[in-house]
Amino acid sequence: MAETLLKDINDVRQGEAYAPFAEDPNTYGKKFYIESYGCQMNFSDSEVVAAILNEEGYGATRNFEDADLILLNTCSIREKAEQTVRNRLQTFRKLKDRQPGILIGVLGCMAERLKAKFLEEEKLVDLVVGPDAYRSLPGLITEAEGGQKSVNVLLSREETYADIAPIRLDSNGVTAFVSIMRGCNNMCTFCVVPFTRGRERSRDAHSIVNECLDLFARGYREVTLLGQNVDSYYYMGPAGEEVTFGRLLALVAHVSPLLRVRFSTSHPKDITDDVLLTMAKYANICKYIHLPVQSGNTRILQLMNRTYTREWYLSKINRIRQIMPDCGLSTDVISGFCTETEEEHQDTLSLMEVTRFDMAYMFSYSERPGTLAARRYQDDIDEPTKRRRLEEIIKLQNNHSRKSYTDDIGKVFEVLIEGDSKRSSNDWCGRNSQNKMVVFPKGNGNLQKGEYGHVKINTATSATLIGEMI
Ligand code: SAH
Ligand code: SF4
Ligand code: F3S
Repeated sequence: MAETLLKDINDVRQGEAYAPFAEDPNTYGKKFYIESYGCQMNFSDSEVVAAILNEEGYGATRNFEDADLILLNTCSIREKAEQTVRNRLQTFRKLKDRQPGILIGVLGCMAERLKAKFLEEEKLVDLVVGPDAYRSLPGLITEAEGGQKSVNVLLSREETYADIAPIRLDSNGVTAFVSIMRGCNNMCTFCVVPFTRGRERSRDAHSIVNECLDLFARGYREVTLLGQNVDSYYYMGPAGEEVTFGRLLALVAHVSPLLRVRFSTSHPKDITDDVLLTMAKYANICKYIHLPVQSGNTRILQLMNRTYTREWYLSKINRIRQIMPDCGLSTDVISGFCTETEEEHQDTLSLMEVTRFDMAYMFSYSERPGTLAARRYQDDIDEPTKRRRLEEIIKLQNNHSRKSYTDDIGKVFEVLIEGDSKRSSNDWCGRNSQNKMVVFPKGNGNLQKGEYGHVKINTATSATLIGEMI
């Protein structure tokens, strides 16, 4: 994904299909096919779903036409993401017309919002299961097999799936996602996540560390700790031991110096000095922070309920760079939020100019039914204006990315080898600590997937560094 050019990045976030594959499906009596959309949390949830289904005798298949059960793990973040899912469901529906025995299910963030529509009006699906209800999948499948429409979209205040060992889908065997919390309490006015995923809750720290130990023992060399707002992770153990996010990072970093630790996503209002100093202290905690800014204008940030100002954001960036001068930085930006003026849009561009992100995910505002913004404000910036502002943001970011990557020419990075490069099996690809994709020739073949190479950068595009081993 890091090789994707910036112009494509929006599409990746807006729901690139992901059809994973676990073990030999023939060892199981039945086959399931799952496609995931949206953020890494959803991809990670699909691995929990795979574990639950494996227990029920379902193996994963890459080919939906072979499947007894077709699942779509859906995203609601922008309208386009929802539209993609609807189109996909039409395709599956046609298959079901030919093979009436198969079951089609909708999981994830669209489940709650659209359960009635899917089941009743459009008769597109047999099962609708929300993000906190995956444990009920086996029972719901049985009901659906009996011809009933099965739904469970209840959100929970406790569910973290802490005890379920995810089945790694379509894995490179080197990098893995580890979910550390669920839900979000932030109530950014544009955002549907608090409604689709419910209240924030943190997963038992022991189960997180154990999952990371297990991954390391199985050859994995990088974990990404996932949550909508990782900085507000908080767990209190049975003996009253407190684990903050900074402490959790240190605990996972101690699994092995050979295990890299990443995390996503941080909120500018919550990222603490404790986290930054912990990152600086451990060489195996990657020097990379994704810190979504959304807008460079304080009035818009207030309307978004982000609870920080432009100045606060810029001071956080200064602090990060003070503590870790080599830290990679990326962000999320929204163009054309309600009432945004031309000057306020210019403030976003000027903030980008000051901060110079290495990479960004950029979107135009998409009103989501039920959100605070949909209820309180008018979506009054017309589409052409939103699009034009977005294009200006993307153009500026492309320049910054190109500069950031070409500035790395001549530097030497430690790269964790993730596998063959997309273009050639003579080249390795992997990322440096700053999360930039690096491609380099395998050379004499001394190194293997999952090992670290030292690579000197010779050339660069705006999304890949190209070098040679030293
Ligand atoms: N929890 C993360 C973000 C999750 S959603 C955080 O707070 O940073 C990922 C990104 O999608 C957001 O950062 C935002 O830039 C974008 N996004 C969310 N809702 C949106 C909407 N209604 N329209 C356009 N972009 C949106
Ligand atoms: Fe949405 Fe804001 Fe929560 Fe991120 S922090 S998931 S943008 S409400
Ligand atoms: Fe989409 Fe849900 Fe993630 S709405 S971005 S899949 S939390």
